[in-house]
Amino acid sequence: MTNPDIASLIQHAADAVRAKSDLQPRVLVVLGSGLGALADEVTDPVRVPYGDIPDFAVSTVPGHAGAFLLGGLCGVPVIVMVGRVHFYEGYPMWQITLPVRVARALGATAMIVSNAAGGINRSFAVGDVMMMSDHINLIGMAGHNPLIGPNDDSLGARFPSMTDAYDTQLRAIARQVAGAASIELKEGVYAGLAGPSFESPAELRFLRAIGADAVGMSTVNEVLVARHGGMRVLGFSGITNVARLQSDEGEPPSHQEVLEAGPKIAPKMMAIVRGVLNEWR
Ligand code: HPA
Repeated sequence: MTNPDIASLIQHAADAVRAKSDLQPRVLVVLGSGLGALADEVTDPVRVPYGDIPDFAVSTVPGHAGAFLLGGLCGVPVIVMVGRVHFYEGYPMWQITLPVRVARALGATAMIVSNAAGGINRSFAVGDVMMMSDHINLIGMAGHNPLIGPNDDSLGARFPSMTDAYDTQLRAIARQVAGAASIELKEGVYAGLAGPSFESPAELRFLRAIGADAVGMSTVNEVLVARHGGMRVLGFSGITNVARLQSDEGEPPSHQEVLEAGPKIAPKMMAIVRGVLNEWR
């Protein structure tokens, strides 16, 4: 499917979810690395596996389960994406971002999104949490953007702005929550790449030169679609490894390293998200 009728795909998928739960979510929470355990805190959860939702893609990556959870989180009705699919898995952009479209159709007006990322900013260390202040959409600049194709004006504008894509007010709340809990919260620019190969040292030097603080293989497409649909966005990167800008600077990055950093990141990221949701009630 190259140019699917996205509105009818959204409708079919949303109908399938509604048939399992009539909860109207206010917030979409995308559980990437660092937030996975939040799934256990969802009250009265209704689980809808992606495989049961028409046209949803199912992840091929170990550690990325695939289901929507509908329920309460800190008293806020939420829809949680437990697992996501990535561009490098070979899925088209419209399919990677369909869950965000469906969450919007079900009523979510905001998205909290998380990911694992490599640290590029020299002041970042493994285990840090970086709140996203902006992004560099390198996949998009290379011609892959989920908004390419005929625009459905009922979903959003043809040329959506990405100024203030990461909501200023929500970021202020997150800063406050982190400060009150004595959690160090970094902020910076996330560069979104296709992957699945990690960056070469020369590519990392390029990313630093263009102003990236962290680099990863997800999130940006979800943010584009969320903003297209008018959702407010708050994003967090868990720094799972730091960039080696010379090939002789220690071990090369690995998926194992990315998975191992989780326990350092998860409690901090979860505390911030809980705090933000508490403010939301
Ligand atoms: N590069 C790209 N994506 C990543 C990295 C990285 O170093 N770490 C976690 N996701």
